Amino acid sequence: MIRLIPQPESHMISEMTRAPSTDGMVRIRIDRHLAPADESAVQDELRQAIAETPRRIPTKYFYNDHGSTLFERICELPEYYQTRTEAALLHRIADQVVRTSGARELVELGSGASTKSRILLDALDAAGHLESYVPVDVSEGIVRRVANELTAEYPNLLVHGLIADFMSDLGELPSEVSGRGHSRLVAFLGGTIGNLDPASQGVDFLRHVHDAMGPGDHLLIGVDLIKDHAIIEAAYNDSAGVTAAFNLNVLSVLNQRFEANFDIEAFQHRAIYDPENNWIEMRLISTREQRVRFGALDLDLTLNEGEELLTEISTKFDRPRLRDLLGASGFDLVDWFVQDDLFALGLATPRST
Ligand code: SAH
Ligand code: AVI
Repeated sequence: MIRLIPQPESHMISEMTRAPSTDGMVRIRIDRHLAPADESAVQDELRQAIAETPRRIPTKYFYNDHGSTLFERICELPEYYQTRTEAALLHRIADQVVRTSGARELVELGSGASTKSRILLDALDAAGHLESYVPVDVSEGIVRRVANELTAEYPNLLVHGLIADFMSDLGELPSEVSGRGHSRLVAFLGGTIGNLDPASQGVDFLRHVHDAMGPGDHLLIGVDLIKDHAIIEAAYNDSAGVTAAFNLNVLSVLNQRFEANFDIEAFQHRAIYDPENNWIEMRLISTREQRVRFGALDLDLTLNEGEELLTEISTKFDRPRLRDLLGASGFDLVDWFVQDDLFALGLATPRST
């Protein structure tokens, strides 16, 4: 039977691509929600972030095509235990999660290269439940690549990708793709929740996720655990310098995206653990006094020698911290799986309001 991805609704403002997969059938649809109309909001967000103390750069700017490639390299580093630990955990619990959720569709937020998603897709497939996959990411190249790869790897899979900011565009999340009212498993893997300030962005984000979910849906969320600080600091200060390159790349993204003129040679990478907040902070330190012009913002930024730009926080969790964050966002944590005391996955259900 030939199945087709449904056509976009007439109110949809996104740019849409329907592409035949390698078998010639249309099983891929990609919606792009980063519309130029949003540009002034995007500029205001950056203006506000770089005016804060310390000056901050929104984390999403790490992930242009080069940044996504550098992140894929980070995942392979000996010091960066998160990815392989979460993969081992998923291998152990995927069947159980699929059984509990009864889902036929996997929605993944911040899907990146979708490497670990394949473990969940395989479990859905083995249970005879696999219908559709909805990767959501700001990084356009990677969503398009993954859609092609996965429709080739899974012969009946429908892929409906969303190139979107998960902080602002979850209202655009497509309704269940097969249209048959099946329940969904929403995955937020890799510990990416840790990159959202738990007191503000984390709760806002999870409330939006909650509002986009139906009563029978489940949320699977990966968190890096609180542990010996030296293990965490080593993961963000790797000996090959890939994390430093990933951090510095954000300046190239700003140069391109906002016509800025950062001299990348004049900054150094730093990652330090904050034991009070239990998060690691990545910063870029200006090695001299300098003035940076943002052409697109008509803004000049003066940085002193030693002044730091905060580029990322990565919050570490234990079970109560995740339970409380989920609880404040309308979810109940119903299961908690730990691997090697390093990384955990929480399974949550939306509380009906
Ligand atoms: N889930 C994958 C990738 C984690 S890296 C894994 O576990 O390996 C974080 C991913 O989130 C990147 O692919 C990045 O492009 C995406 N991302 C970061 N901020 C985002 C935002 N605001 N909206 C959508 N995607 C975002
Ligand atoms: C995507 N995110 C969970 C990574 C992290 O560990 O916070 C991003 C990263 N930053 C430096 N290395 C990896």
